[in-house]
Amino acid sequence: QHPGWPARLGPVRVAAGQVTLRPVRLRDAAAWSRIRLRDREHLEPWEPTGRGAWEARNHASNWPSLWSSLKAEARRGAMIPLVIEVDGSFSGQLTVGNIVRGALRSAWIGYWVAKDLSGQGVATAALALGLDHCFGPVGLHRVEATVRPENLASQAVLRNVGFREEGLLRRYLDVDGAWRDHLLVGLTVEEISGTVIDRLVREGRVILP
Ligand code: ACO
Repeated sequence: QHPGWPARLGPVRVAAGQVTLRPVRLRDAAAWSRIRLRDREHLEPWEPTGRGAWEARNHASNWPSLWSSLKAEARRGAMIPLVIEVDGSFSGQLTVGNIVRGALRSAWIGYWVAKDLSGQGVATAALALGLDHCFGPVGLHRVEATVRPENLASQAVLRNVGFREEGLLRRYLDVDGAWRDHLLVGLTVEEISGTVIDRLVREGRVILP
């Protein structure tokens, strides 16, 4: 096992309810697929282009292979694939990827949240829990994220937890069928006083149970 895996993070309370993070499970297939098929228009503009149609890629029968590749990456210490739960129900995912150790000790972080929970603080709380985990038990020094300039909601989430803009990556990632520019944001452990969750508590964005 690798530091910080497997992990259960939270709970913290936001407007939507109680937010917790836990490892992906094989039995997430139905909930994962139901939300992904229902929320296609909400998700597809921001996600890496996949092979095949959205319906096929997000069918419940596709989850076992996705789950097993996420678990394999987690076992080799390269990823932390978590489910975001709100009041105990599957509500999205938060993934830490490309964990590199040695003198870099860095990773990227990404997330999505079901559309019916939008604007109730779920992504902000999940990201804060994920970052505190990365800078704590996982032992990373830097976490980065990339976001399309058009994705204003996600940029607000990144700002809420203290990410700093580092530059514009031109034609960086194949997203929604084309090479899309992305803003690069970064955060290092020295930039956080206390924890990211502490900051959100001080700002009244989350409540500790
Ligand atoms: N313009 C500007 N700000 C907006 C807009 C908008 N159109 N819509 C929402 N916001 C703001 C809200 O005001 C809020 O900011 P505030 O807390 O400062 O008021 C913020 O966006 C949303 O915060 P949360 O409620 O914590 O986020 P939510 O749980 O709604 O999830 C998310 C946001 C993750 C972007 C969700 O909408 C989603 O899953 N979208 C589709 C997938 C996606 O874009 N994922 C992120 C890809 S980039 C990455 O992973 C680094």
